[in-house]
Amino acid sequence: MSNKFYCTTAIDYPNGRPHIGHAYEKIVTDSYNRWYKMKGMETHFLTGTDENGQKLIESAKAAGKETEAFVAENVEVFKELCEKANIQYDDFIRTTEKRHHDASTEIWQKIESKGLIYHGHYSGMYCLSCESFYTELQAPDGNCPEHHKQLEKKEEEGYFFKLSEFQSWIIDHLKANPDFIAPAARYKEILSRLEADDLRDLAISRPTQNWGVPVPGNDNFVMYTWFDALINYYSALSEDQRKFWPADMHVIGKDILWFHSVIWPCMLKAADLPLPKQVYVHGMILAEDGKKMSKSLGNVVDPFDMLERFPTDTVRYYLLRNISATSDGKFSVDELIAKHNAELGNDYGNLLMRVIKLARKVMPDHIFTSEGVDQEIQVAEIYKRASEFMDKREHNKAMDVIWELVNQMNQYVNDKEPWKYKEDTETFSKIVYNCLFGMSAATYLLQAFVPQTTETASGYIGADIEGAELLEFGKAKFDIQAPEALFPKIENK
Ligand code: MSP
Repeated sequence: MSNKFYCTTAIDYPNGRPHIGHAYEKIVTDSYNRWYKMKGMETHFLTGTDENGQKLIESAKAAGKETEAFVAENVEVFKELCEKANIQYDDFIRTTEKRHHDASTEIWQKIESKGLIYHGHYSGMYCLSCESFYTELQAPDGNCPEHHKQLEKKEEEGYFFKLSEFQSWIIDHLKANPDFIAPAARYKEILSRLEADDLRDLAISRPTQNWGVPVPGNDNFVMYTWFDALINYYSALSEDQRKFWPADMHVIGKDILWFHSVIWPCMLKAADLPLPKQVYVHGMILAEDGKKMSKSLGNVVDPFDMLERFPTDTVRYYLLRNISATSDGKFSVDELIAKHNAELGNDYGNLLMRVIKLARKVMPDHIFTSEGVDQEIQVAEIYKRASEFMDKREHNKAMDVIWELVNQMNQYVNDKEPWKYKEDTETFSKIVYNCLFGMSAATYLLQAFVPQTTETASGYIGADIEGAELLEFGKAKFDIQAPEALFPKIENK
């Protein structure tokens, strides 16, 4: 396996405040990035904002602001969300930046030089919210399949990308690379759509409104926003960072899968650039009532509100473990509180507190070494299974596996009853060493998901080594520190 890992989120439209779905996507990607970094890979994590669309002009107008100022203001809110959710990105790209305009221009020119862009006319059914044309097969009732709004008939004069030339190539590519789209159900969906419907050439320009990336050689047009937006994954990389290309994982929602799994690879192929390894499609966060969140239904969950009311790691943990990595899931505050109290507070936090407090009382020097201690806790299998689930993009199952270790530790403490050996410090130390080993392994494996907690917990556990060695029994010496409750109970009012 190559030792680099480049992952991206979709770039968000900064035409309003971010919602919980945006937060979810970033938290998921952040966890994969942290996981592979933990495994010693050279990682790169890109997120950002998609700023060139017509939609931005309209939203700014509606807010009574200049487009540029309106967008810049909103971008700050997206960045603030990243900070609050502890998203450790390496780079944040705004598609209004020069580096993006330059790379988009270059890629356009490259594709054009190969005769795969032409000037022509097109008429079809269009959705402004998606900024996309739909065929009759995709929208048989004339409504946008995503927004359920009536499509508008739109005549376009402009530039077209010869997407139709890539039909058999993209089908072959998908067939040869079944992991190109995860989960498998999404892969099948795209493949059958490609086999059922002919690819049409794609309109890739819009008449200019002085906003967007100008079409090279014709200032009357700007690039269709999806054409330039997809390029962000490549344009963000400086010369020195191009070693990260191709991306290992694009993380997106299902509503934009077609763009990422069909249009983007065809653009790259046309530009003679290597293709990303995988598009991972997470589920959609639904409201508690199981419906799509919408302002009119009043069921919208605000991520800032959640991150204000609850610890960051509680929100992260809840989203990562409770929402299946392969399907949509409901967001319920009651459930979040219940998980905080039972799993984070009780299973993990209390276990750590109980053991460390007792051990500090019984052994005044607080030091625990492996000398003469037999291994009673196994973690290798847990690590292996969790890794396999991460590689399969099933992070919630990876967390379930790590939680098996947490549960096993609770069981171990209950069975061994260390409090009965206060006078027999040799036996006491052996039990506690096993406990500390198991808990430090669990803490190590949880760092990708709940990073603040594991940093604090590691401080309490006080191992003298770090990294993967923590999974090897007997290596660490523990100098345990006075702990404070990691997840104080939340009353559900
Ligand atoms: N700007 C485009 C993406 C361009 S990528 C080259 C876009 N932006 S978006 O702001 O509408 O959506 C950003 C991401 O958030 C998408 O991956 C989308 O699927 C995801 N989500 C939007 N609503 C969501 C939920 N309710 N739940 C989970 N993810 C959600 O599309």
